[in-house]
Amino acid sequence: MKPAVLVARAVFPEVVERLRHHFDVEVNSDDRIFNKAELVERLHGKVGVFATGSVAIDAEVLDANPQLKVVANMAVGYDNLDVPACTARGVLCTNTPDVLTESTADFGFALMMATARRVTESEHYLRRGEWSKWSYDLFVGSDIHGSTLGILGMGRIGQAIARRGAHGFGMRVIYHNRSRISDAIEAECKARYVDKPTLLRESDHLMIVMPYSKETHHSVGAAELAMMKPTATLTNIARGGIVDDAALATALAARQIAAAGLDVFEGEPRVHPDLLKVSNVVLTPHIASATVATRLAMANLAADNLIAGLGFGPRSGKPPTPINPEVLRQ
Ligand code: DGY
Repeated sequence: MKPAVLVARAVFPEVVERLRHHFDVEVNSDDRIFNKAELVERLHGKVGVFATGSVAIDAEVLDANPQLKVVANMAVGYDNLDVPACTARGVLCTNTPDVLTESTADFGFALMMATARRVTESEHYLRRGEWSKWSYDLFVGSDIHGSTLGILGMGRIGQAIARRGAHGFGMRVIYHNRSRISDAIEAECKARYVDKPTLLRESDHLMIVMPYSKETHHSVGAAELAMMKPTATLTNIARGGIVDDAALATALAARQIAAAGLDVFEGEPRVHPDLLKVSNVVLTPHIASATVATRLAMANLAADNLIAGLGFGPRSGKPPTPINPEVLRQ
């Protein structure tokens, strides 16, 4: 009998077929988001789970399912997983870094440009039939080329955004991160390390790309927004909760900053109602990595991790991208 795994959200059928080769697979084909009780129940008897960011694996879920051995997250971010709880119980966690870096950086740039150049705001105006004539100041925004790009969080995606800004658009790139990146990468990205207040004060366009954790919760709130230029834009493609959305809505309404582009939200898919009331914000539904090729690559990498993590396939026992590799050594 094959070991049983749960695919907790709908995913590409060809990836499910790969899993069926090794496992008895239960798929959440309706793609309903399970509440905790449902997740606990669906995991009964399963040794592995193919998860996404909406599938929360915590100590309670683990204790109710001591047979669980591998959690393969189809996302680079893993704030949905209690990794220490998994490690303590010998459960391997994996994620999907690298394969989404360039697509996500492309989207970050697209969102920043749409925000600075007021693309959606002006389209809504046109669709409402309000456009009657060309005017010198109709939807004037701010330039991307030659401006200062500030990056909060300089991991792989932050670096890919820095390269686009510096080499493609002649931007001056500054960044803040928990730790400085190497001189070689700084040189390649033409990026300069600054402290957080300098980043906030000097950025024309602030891009948030840091991971979410208790420590990064509300890293940008009312106090930080007050330090930014009134002409600045803020783009968040990282995780909801890093920005205080209520404070941001207030700052946008008061034109304390010029505009924001948000792909992620606190408590998504809910969006803070005040953000829906302001026109100077571009809102997208967590799609930064959403190209067909990238989502397929993410799903296949998560499947590779699940297969290898459970001791099958050519990489048996050596999943490509473990989060807590110490479990493999236990
Ligand atoms: C990620 O990979 O973390 C993206 O945000 C998709 O969830």
